[in-house]
Amino acid sequence: MTPHRFALAASAALAFGCGNPIADNQIEAWGDELPEVPPGEHHRPGQPCVLCHSVAGGASPELVLGGTVFADQRSFLPVEGAEVVVYDAVGDVYTMTSNCIGNFYLPNEGLAPQFPLAVEVRCPKYDAAGNLMETKKIRSMNSWISRDGSCATCHSLRGTQNDSTGWIFCNDETEITSNPYPEVAESCPGVPPAEAE
Ligand code: HEC
Ligand code: HEC
Repeated sequence: MTPHRFALAASAALAFGCGNPIADNQIEAWGDELPEVPPGEHHRPGQPCVLCHSVAGGASPELVLGGTVFADQRSFLPVEGAEVVVYDAVGDVYTMTSNCIGNFYLPNEGLAPQFPLAVEVRCPKYDAAGNLMETKKIRSMNSWISRDGSCATCHSLRGTQNDSTGWIFCNDETEITSNPYPEVAESCPGVPPAEAE
């Protein structure tokens, strides 16, 4: 088999990916799409979006940033309506809002943020009765994001990622009952992750 033919066979087997074996292996480790969720903004909550949505990953659209906001660090309950605000190295500010499955993302089009990035998440707040309040709660990352646009490269519950710092979350242990997040709406096309991804 010529090298050229081999490359064609490998990419056909993977359906996407650039033939970079390290990227392809990492992508494959995240498994197949759920049959009930079409590939799109509601798929793969908690997974590292930019791993696939990059030149190396081969999925379109190309994304600069992407991730998922969860209610707390141990549940699999996504948070809708959280604003993820990114401050870049040249003073530009980018805001993304999480959708009904907690996903947010920035497509690679037009102006792109210049790394390193500072980031804060403005979480919606609910009163104990479950009513949405006017105020937001701010959680900021103390360190900078130097390179990786996939928040889930670090913010993951996957046991294999020893350097994982856990989900991006809104409630700490003391706030779980005072700020109750609603279940995912029936109408939402996404499905929350079921295990420590
Ligand atoms: C394991 C790889 C992988 C991961 C992780 C991944 N995606 Fe995708 N995504 C794809 C593929 C494949 C498609 C289908 C388009 C294609 O084949 O190029 C797609 C499609 C999309 C689309 C385009 C839908 C359309 O109609 O054009 C959006 C938006 C999207 N994904 C957002 C995300 C977000 C946000 C995340 C992270 C929470 C994410 N994806 C994680 C592989 C991935
Ligand atoms: C390179 C690894 C890495 C990446 C990528 C990363 N983070 Fe973080 N993040 C951390 C670490 C480590 C902490 C805990 C220490 C700190 O705040 O710096 C953290 C903390 C946070 C916190 C504060 C949590 C708290 O205790 O209140 C938020 C919010 C956050 N990150 C959001 C994000 C978002 C949004 C993204 C993607 C745009 C992202 N992070 C990407 C490593 C990362």
